[in-house]
Amino acid sequence: MAFTMMFIVIQPSVSAAEEMVLEKVMKEQAKNMRRIAGGIAREDYEQVVRASLAVIDPPHPSSTLGEKLKLMGFLGTDIGRFKELDGNTKERAAALAKTARSQNGEATIAAFQRLQMSCLACHSEFRKSFQDYFNH
Ligand code: HEC
Repeated sequence: MAFTMMFIVIQPSVSAAEEMVLEKVMKEQAKNMRRIAGGIAREDYEQVVRASLAVIDPPHPSSTLGEKLKLMGFLGTDIGRFKELDGNTKERAAALAKTARSQNGEATIAAFQRLQMSCLACHSEFRKSFQDYFNH
């Protein structure tokens, strides 16, 4: 009975129509990556620095309790791995910001590539199962 109640309470806040915070964050990350690429193309290293720092801490609304519980249900014991991959992305974004400050084009491009690889690493491990779990 308690279980049923919990289900009823949580369900509405994560209805399919409502975009999850994680998706909002990812869209923000895609925007940041476009800003980085644009900055590299124009050799506007200030823009690269700003956009890299935004990758470390993208603005987003806080998750509802319902979403947090659902995410925890999805990740289960993989939560440590998920956080590790998230940490790798933040580290590489910080490294990119540092490199861009040196205004070295080739080194900046290489650091950007390392950042992209860290996005890919999490997507290859979690995207498919995330979409299956949340019926996307
Ligand atoms: C720790 C895991 C993780 C990391 C790191 C990560 N992502 Fe994601 N990303 C996800 C998951 C899970 C999804 C699937 C979400 C979905 O399909 O709704 C996703 C989906 C996306 C999407 C598709 C969003 C949509 O509207 O369908 C984009 C774009 C994206 N990520 C960009 C990035 C970029 C750029 C980076 C690196 C700067 C990054 N992500 C790093 C986990 C991660």
